[in-house]
Amino acid sequence: MKIGIDKMSFFTSDLYLPMEDLAKARNEDPNKYLIGIGQSKQAVIRNSQDSVTLAANAALKIVDDNEKEKIDLILFGTESGVDNSKSGAIYLQSLLGINSSASGVELKQACFGLTAGIQMAMGHIALHPESRVLLVGSDIARYGIGTLGEKTQGGGAVAIIMSANPHLLEIGTQSAHLTKDIMDFWRPLNRSEALVDGKYSSAEFINFFKETFENYLEKTGEEIDKFTALIFHLPYTKMGLKALRSVIEDLDNDDLKESLLEHFEESRYLNREVGNLYTGSLYLSLLSLLHARNLKAGDQIGLFSYGSGAEGEFYSAKVVEGYEKYVTDEEIAFLDQRTSVSVAEYEQIYRSFMRPQTADYRTEFENDPAPFVLKGQQQQQRIYEKVN
Ligand code: COA
Repeated sequence: MKIGIDKMSFFTSDLYLPMEDLAKARNEDPNKYLIGIGQSKQAVIRNSQDSVTLAANAALKIVDDNEKEKIDLILFGTESGVDNSKSGAIYLQSLLGINSSASGVELKQACFGLTAGIQMAMGHIALHPESRVLLVGSDIARYGIGTLGEKTQGGGAVAIIMSANPHLLEIGTQSAHLTKDIMDFWRPLNRSEALVDGKYSSAEFINFFKETFENYLEKTGEEIDKFTALIFHLPYTKMGLKALRSVIEDLDNDDLKESLLEHFEESRYLNREVGNLYTGSLYLSLLSLLHARNLKAGDQIGLFSYGSGAEGEFYSAKVVEGYEKYVTDEEIAFLDQRTSVSVAEYEQIYRSFMRPQTADYRTEFENDPAPFVLKGQQQQQRIYEKVN
């Protein structure tokens, strides 16, 4: 049975910060951010959005009335969840009106959560071929004003429907994992900003990629030339370029090198415009690659997922005949209609998230054009509503 990705969608804030402006404000050369980090814009998430509303806004685009009845499993990948107990999947089920027979859980392992969901969905659909699984990767990436990680912030959500006989990608059954207890990035329970050893994390990312990629090739007996594209979790887009270079630098086949680099450029386009999505990042890169429409049926894509702490996985997927019809330009057109904010405005919005956890509050949701918003908190309960 063919199992894989049937539909995908993406949502982020209507506000962004130009990286050039951030570089100037931090007394850095803009090319360090634009080329050295590989980011052009950074999504600025309003205080009326959180991982639940971002996920609901992304999923709304692909969960129609038919899906609401058919979805039987909701897997919510996040590392910026809103509750230590209740899963974001329950809020999502309620906000979208998905049938109450569907089950749902939240999955956490840093940026790896959505990939864990993909593998669970593979097994679930193999047992229940009629199943349609809704998966989301939804996060707000916060490092702190003036920190080294600030230029790699961002946020947003990717939503995916997986099923048998998918329209976009057929996912392979082989994959290679690597798990090691390391402290490259973590976020203690009292913090909304991550703690990170950025250089160490970037080095481990490459080590994890090389090891899982080699293990995958060994397991399958395949060579690198089997792949039309290699794509990556992109905490910043230069990270993926460095990982790709680490396996193509010694290749004799110049055409293959050039083609992998060309497809990598296509795969980082959307990530460049938004910044880090944590769990959704690899899948935004996948969406970006599909939107370039430069692939043909049967092309094999290699995907590397990395979640600090750390777990890495390399797996592959094959492009399905006619996939182009299921990736529309309208889906990402909203990115060109976003509003640019100044560094001072970004800092004000950033600080507005620092509200006492136990107090009642109200967000500035009236200014937010998103369909689902967080209106505030009363008696330590978050108030969500579909307002647009
Ligand atoms: N023009 C072009 N490139 C320039 C430049 C310029 N004027 N000035 C510097 N650069 C390049 C550097 O050479 C470097 O390239 P390289 O990585 O290929 O060597 C790159 O820009 C970044 O410079 P660096 O000095 O390493 O940046 P930094 O120390 O300020 O911060 C991180 C980089 C990644 C450590 C930091 O953003 C971070 O901690 N991010 C969060 C953690 C993260 O993303 N982890 C990844 C794994 S999940």
